[in-house]
Amino acid sequence: MKKTIRDVELAGKKVFVRVDFNVPLNNGVIRDTRRVDSSLATINYLREKGAKIILASHLGKPKGADPELSLAPVAKLLSERLESPVIFHSTPEVVDDEVRRLVDGMKEGEVILLENTRYDVGETKNDRELAEKFASLADIFVNDAFGTAHRAHASNVGVAEILPVKVSGFLIEKELKYFYEALDSPQRPFLAILGGAKVSDKIKVIENLLDKVDEIVVGGAMAYTFMKALGHSVGTSLVEDDMVDYAKKILEMAEEKNIAFHLPVDFAVAKEFADLPPVYTEGRDISSDSMGLDIGPKSIENFKEVIARARTIVWNGPVGVFEMSNYAKGTGAIARALADNPGITIIGGGDSAAAITEMGLDDAMSHISTGGGASLELLEGKELPGIGILEER
Ligand code: 3PG
Repeated sequence: MKKTIRDVELAGKKVFVRVDFNVPLNNGVIRDTRRVDSSLATINYLREKGAKIILASHLGKPKGADPELSLAPVAKLLSERLESPVIFHSTPEVVDDEVRRLVDGMKEGEVILLENTRYDVGETKNDRELAEKFASLADIFVNDAFGTAHRAHASNVGVAEILPVKVSGFLIEKELKYFYEALDSPQRPFLAILGGAKVSDKIKVIENLLDKVDEIVVGGAMAYTFMKALGHSVGTSLVEDDMVDYAKKILEMAEEKNIAFHLPVDFAVAKEFADLPPVYTEGRDISSDSMGLDIGPKSIENFKEVIARARTIVWNGPVGVFEMSNYAKGTGAIARALADNPGITIIGGGDSAAAITEMGLDDAMSHISTGGGASLELLEGKELPGIGILEER
């Protein structure tokens, strides 16, 4: 168990908090505020305890200062959410003399947001000089950036190597609680639902989960590689030819371990990659001029049954091209089946989380992760650098 902000003295202390405000932006407008909203519990607690709060985050992947990726819109949103002004000074240096002056003048409970940490190219290289600049501002390091915890950068690992006190915030505490409980002591049956495009992206997840789950459902384009491994015709569907043998091996491993491995039994197909009314296959074979874009109605019924009997479910990756309304039925049905399940339902970040939010089902899930890449690495069984660096209780 990692120490959290509950375990340390905070009054009057300058606290450097790494948050993940890497929000989707459209012309300066924040399209999804989940990551900012998920940080409020930690920030408000630190304010109540009389800390001086220095927030740091990256936004996008700039290679140096880029005004389009300024955190200014986030500072504005955060001021509204906290109902209190957030100090913000945009500078290409991230930490300059003005920032130092502002931090020196902070009162207890005040909040400053630094500019996008990736304005400094040293951030992603975990540059020592930049880490020292961050550390010079504060007494305590708090990591609450779950979405970035799989990176070892200056603002989440380098700075923590220097500051004497390093603990987690409430968001990381909650994310770890759900993932570790599911992986280490799940209520059974424990089901993993994996979708998305590539088997190669999920190899390590599948291998790690084969030792933990009771059942696995696979959908999305990944399924076509398994179909090919089983000798079915896949038409023009997306297939990773170099993964076909590996897919066979996975099916054998699942059988040896007595894990029920559920693949689709029919598909929604089209002759081109376009949002046209689908045609459904009779079985698993897809004709040579068609590509699979979603699971079919029989697969939906099968998967709903599997979901209904599970008591812990982890879902990562849509089972069809859900951005196209004609091919969103499978993913929608999975989301609704999860919402109806009384057990523990955990949604990996990224596309599956977006699908749940689009359907207005957020409140029906036990936990929706704020980290796509980070949650995938946790499911792979890896220790994330941004978590490993924190003090044990
Ligand atoms: C994310 O959105 O997955 C995190 O904020 C990490 O961002 P990155 O992939 O740019 O490091």
